[in-house]
Amino acid sequence: MNLPKSPPPIVTAQTPSGSTHIRSFVHRRAHITPSQEQAIAEWLPRWSIRYQDTPIDLSAAFGRTAPVILEIGFGMGETTQKIAQARPGDNFLGVEVFNAGVGALLKRIHESGLDNIRIIQHDAVEVLRDMIAPGSLAGVHIYFPDPWPKKRHHKRRLIQPAFVALLSSRMAPGAYLHCATDWEHYAQQMLEVLSAEPSLQNTCADYAPRPDYRPLTKFENRGLRLGHGVWDLMFTRRAPADAASSPETV
Ligand SMILES: C[S@@+](CC[C@H](N)C(=O)[O-])C[C@H]1O[C@@H](n2cnc3c(N)ncnc32)[C@H](O)[C@@H]1O
Repeated sequence: MNLPKSPPPIVTAQTPSGSTHIRSFVHRRAHITPSQEQAIAEWLPRWSIRYQDTPIDLSAAFGRTAPVILEIGFGMGETTQKIAQARPGDNFLGVEVFNAGVGALLKRIHESGLDNIRIIQHDAVEVLRDMIAPGSLAGVHIYFPDPWPKKRHHKRRLIQPAFVALLSSRMAPGAYLHCATDWEHYAQQMLEVLSAEPSLQNTCADYAPRPDYRPLTKFENRGLRLGHGVWDLMFTRRAPADAASSPETV
């Protein structure tokens, strides 16, 4: 039987595929500006890497070999741009599902002339699982992930034991994992989950001071003026022998 051909998809950016795990995001029909839409139409092919189910060659994707820092959920890309500008020697791989955010970061890349940022528009869990080879990341940034404040939604939080084990497996020995949140309960969960992962080591007794390279966001500045807290966490991946002999693995 000849089925009618389905019309071409109207989405301009790549759409996440079906999945069996609990998503840490929901699809939002968020407002997208004409200039963000235009940035997607014009610049997505230049600066983004399509989701694929096999590991990618990161040096080929960036056109050079340099330490790769993965950022999960870059939002509108303000922090991504500032850090990439301040650290020209590193390659920044930003993963985000949100169309307006992808458009916004593409615009920033184009306007700033930065060449050390690449974007993957897809669920970061699947990107890590399928596209990032074990031991290949020099660092990971997770800034203000969705806090999912209601108890019944806590299962949607990104920082969970299985996800952290996957994430750590993609980090090289000595690579760092830097998280920040303004949600105290989530900060506590992060501290608990990251501390319980045997392959990771806290660089501080508990929370870390904000490193200079992470700029204060507008939102964070306002929160701090109102007396709200922000918690940074900085862990590193142990060398395999360390992880095997660490007391947590016993
Ligand atoms: C609260 S926002 C924070 C954005 C930004 N990091 C900041 O500090 O402003 C969290 C972002 O993470 C994205 N996100 C959540 N889960 C994700 C996932 N599994 N893969 C990719 N992006 C995700 C959301 O779309 C959202 O834009």
